Amino acid sequence: MLPINKPWLGDEEKQEILNILEENVLTSPANDGGKRVQEFENILQSYVDVKHVIAVNSGTSALHASLLSIGIKQGDEVMLPSFTFVATANSVMATGAKPIFVDINKQDYTIDILDVKKKISKNTKAIIPVHLYGHPSNMNEINDIARAHSIYVIEDACQSLGSTYFQKQTGTLSDIGCFSFYASKVITTGEGGAIATNNDDFAEKLKMIRNHGMIHGYDTTLFGLNLRLPELSAGIGKIQMKKLDKMLNIRRNNANILSNGLKKYEQIHSIINLPQETIDKKFNWYLFTVGFKDKDKRELVKNHLIKEGISAVVYYDPPVHKTPYYNSLESQSDDDVLPNTIWAWHHALSLPVHPLVTENDLYKIIKTFEICI
Ligand SMILES: Cc1ncc(COP(=O)(O)O)c(C=O)c1O
Repeated sequence: MLPINKPWLGDEEKQEILNILEENVLTSPANDGGKRVQEFENILQSYVDVKHVIAVNSGTSALHASLLSIGIKQGDEVMLPSFTFVATANSVMATGAKPIFVDINKQDYTIDILDVKKKISKNTKAIIPVHLYGHPSNMNEINDIARAHSIYVIEDACQSLGSTYFQKQTGTLSDIGCFSFYASKVITTGEGGAIATNNDDFAEKLKMIRNHGMIHGYDTTLFGLNLRLPELSAGIGKIQMKKLDKMLNIRRNNANILSNGLKKYEQIHSIINLPQETIDKKFNWYLFTVGFKDKDKRELVKNHLIKEGISAVVYYDPPVHKTPYYNSLESQSDDDVLPNTIWAWHHALSLPVHPLVTENDLYKIIKTFEICI
């Protein structure tokens, strides 16, 4: 079965692992992190062009630490989409704050600005736009709202390393940005994450939060946890970063083949919506997500692709506010509360375009649409 995403690893990663084992230094409790962690941070920092990068052990840790660093606590509200991986909401819950779920737009599945305006309250302390599938959110509008209400913006860029908005990297467009290097992401460290910020104070706090709130040993001055990235992971990340542009080019190429092959179903038959870049929003093509007008057609295409050995995945099934845990907490569980979220759950289908997808796989996908539509 061709997976929806798969790490692209090679001899260089293997050699780096052997080097680290040979050196026998697997982690460091220093405030600045270990040697590989610092090298990885420096490479990321210059790639995304930001003042500080703090590597941590997951995207979830990146989000949690970021919320702690801006002082989010019990009694606060944080706005975020329900159409995201549950980690975005869990990181809010971990601070004791209340997640307020906001709808998405149907064009690119990112947070809906009108719904943000509608749901903002005196308790709102932060907004977390998610650059879902690698699609940049409407950051200018989100930053305007945040400025007008004196609240913070934390980008969930866990899926969007390499995507740009007005030529700037996602994850660097607001107060703080969070990346994930989980095995399905465009680069991986197995498990891992990173936080990007241009704010010196947040950066200082974040380094402490990833290390039990300490600076020089046992001098805890604020609440933190062990969120450190191991050296083995950072070593893999360093090598993966060298290949990032090459991997993004392959993803783009694959996405172009699918777009060309499927465009008649959008332009002539009006049966699907294809993912569409604009002049100001460039994707990393983490996934190629198609919106179907008819949900039965989506099921037909999905099942056919799976039979053909190609993973086609329905994200997020169900959206966060419909999961049993959040449903039990929430008053926002009716279908008419987040209509576009419910629509996307039932109509969107994600297809693989990662570097290990072959041209043959892509033509198989196009052929499947021909058969099913
Ligand atoms: C949108 C989104 N947010 C947060 C996360 C959490 O990242 P991690 O799995 O590295 O904790 C992920 C990825 O898994 C994600 O896709």
